[in-house]
Amino acid sequence: MNIILLGPPGAGKGTQARMLVEERGMVQLSTGDMLREAKDSGTEMGKIVADVMARGALVTDEIVIGLIKEKLETVKANGFIFDGFPRTLAQADALGDLLATMNETLDAVIEMRVDDEALVARIVARSTCAGCGEVYNDNTKPIPADGVCTNCGQSKEFKRRADDNEESLKTRLMEYYKQTSPLIGYYYAKDSLSRVDGLGDIEAVQAEIKVALDA
Ligand code: AP5
Ligand code: MG
Repeated sequence: MNIILLGPPGAGKGTQARMLVEERGMVQLSTGDMLREAKDSGTEMGKIVADVMARGALVTDEIVIGLIKEKLETVKANGFIFDGFPRTLAQADALGDLLATMNETLDAVIEMRVDDEALVARIVARSTCAGCGEVYNDNTKPIPADGVCTNCGQSKEFKRRADDNEESLKTRLMEYYKQTSPLIGYYYAKDSLSRVDGLGDIEAVQAEIKVALDA
């Protein structure tokens, strides 16, 4: 099964993708994570994208399609979860072509709906385990009192993202509405779209996604 988690910044795509990996043994393909890895390891591509990402703008279609193509050609998986990809119509067309070449199908597109006010509150309170990538939130999922990540049980280091500030978030939201939200209609017209209420707590959203996937 191959699925897309579609939603604005802070909708909970990464949180739910990690849970689906555990539940269903699927592989999460997050273009945001791939780009941050390239940036942190100082590759040429990482240097090119660092400023664009910090501002909250979109990286070029060519770069992100290239990243996804390479993963699809090299990673064996019992299904992929596309998290933060596609984000433009060109990326959506490219993904359709790539899957068709592999004789694979896109089985579901889950749109996660969350109010803009809630997105801002979530984003400015987010931190991530530097060891395993587990996502925390100062308000809804705080870092444990002993300072050790509950997921990996090892790391005591938690990072905040360079683009998790109100200024960059405005740009990220604008990019979402201008470039990514047309994909809702695109996938609706392809009969692939399911909608979930992303405003519920993490377990409630997880349950709604399960219903959508198992329908
Ligand atoms: P990316 O990393 O994909 O960021 P994003 O889309 O802005 O989404 P986020 O990761 O911020 O949010 P999320 O939906 O994963 O939420 P999370 O689960 O963390 O992209 C970053 C940048 O890379 C882009 O701006 C762009 O520059 C570039 N890029 C990436 N892909 C690209 C592409 N395809 N094309 C072009 N450029 C690309 O949750 C957020 C917070 O809320 C956490 O604290 C979490 O604990 C909390 N939370 C989650 N669920 C709930 C809940 N149900 N209730 C309460 N709190 C919750
Ligand atoms: Mg994410």
